[in-house]
Amino acid sequence: MAINTYFQLLPYKKDDVEFHTNFREIALKEIERINRIIEDMLNLAKPSHSNIRCIDPHCCVMDTINLLKHTAADKGAEITAALDEKRCQIIADEDKIKQVLINIIQNSLDALPENGCIQVNTRIVDTISEYRKLANEHPGRIFFSFAPHQLDQFNKQYFVIKVSDNGTGIPEGKIAHIFEPFFTNKDKGTGLGLAIVYRIIKDHEGCIYLESKEGTGTDFSIGLPLNGMNPLDITNHK
Ligand SMILES: Nc1ncnc2c1ncn2[C@@H]1O[C@H](COP(=O)(O)OP(=O)(O)OP(=O)(O)O)[C@@H](O)[C@H]1O
Ligand SMILES: [Mg+2]
Repeated sequence: MAINTYFQLLPYKKDDVEFHTNFREIALKEIERINRIIEDMLNLAKPSHSNIRCIDPHCCVMDTINLLKHTAADKGAEITAALDEKRCQIIADEDKIKQVLINIIQNSLDALPENGCIQVNTRIVDTISEYRKLANEHPGRIFFSFAPHQLDQFNKQYFVIKVSDNGTGIPEGKIAHIFEPFFTNKDKGTGLGLAIVYRIIKDHEGCIYLESKEGTGTDFSIGLPLNGMNPLDITNHK
């Protein structure tokens, strides 16, 4: 877990003020998030509790990257971000979206070679129909949409977060199975990471698009509906 890396680095960063400030901020946020997850798990038998509200998805992305960048650096890997210049808000459960990003980026980290890199980029798209088309045309690509109405996917704007890695990639024959609970190729994996991603994106009526090539890497996109909210052009809000 990323916070473990912070603790391991602590003795070597005694005089690093920036490290301590980041650590304090991240530790507090993580403890709160872990508490809520534990609470959710204890409540598993009851209907799932969620904290849906208006959030800035860019903050989710940047918080998650900041949380994982030391784990990446430990592996000699780098996580870079290229964010859409338009800012927007989505209606979502922030903790759960962060959990989705952690699970996806952690998989990329596990798949990376030494000095590998992960790029996270975001954009607002007017339709997700191009993803469906790509998945239909190319075996080994996957697309799920959880829009309640078929037509929504073509008329609705989505906020798309893409995580790209230059890791091992996923063999074509396995790609259809990776969202199944307990499917894993790792000694210490539970195989629950992507099952959780699937469930959370489904609960948000979003979409998932994945393309991967063995030996080359993986592009993993999640789309979250903008719910009729107009993206704000940041240049108008300076
Ligand atoms: N970016 C990726 N590159 C290569 N393989 C991947 C990638 N993402 C997922 N996979 C494959 O999908 C499998 C399932 O992933 P999932 O996150 O569900 O479980 P896990 O990572 O094995 O275990 P856990 O996340 O529970 O610790 C992985 O074991 C791996 O084989
Ligand atoms: Mg995983």
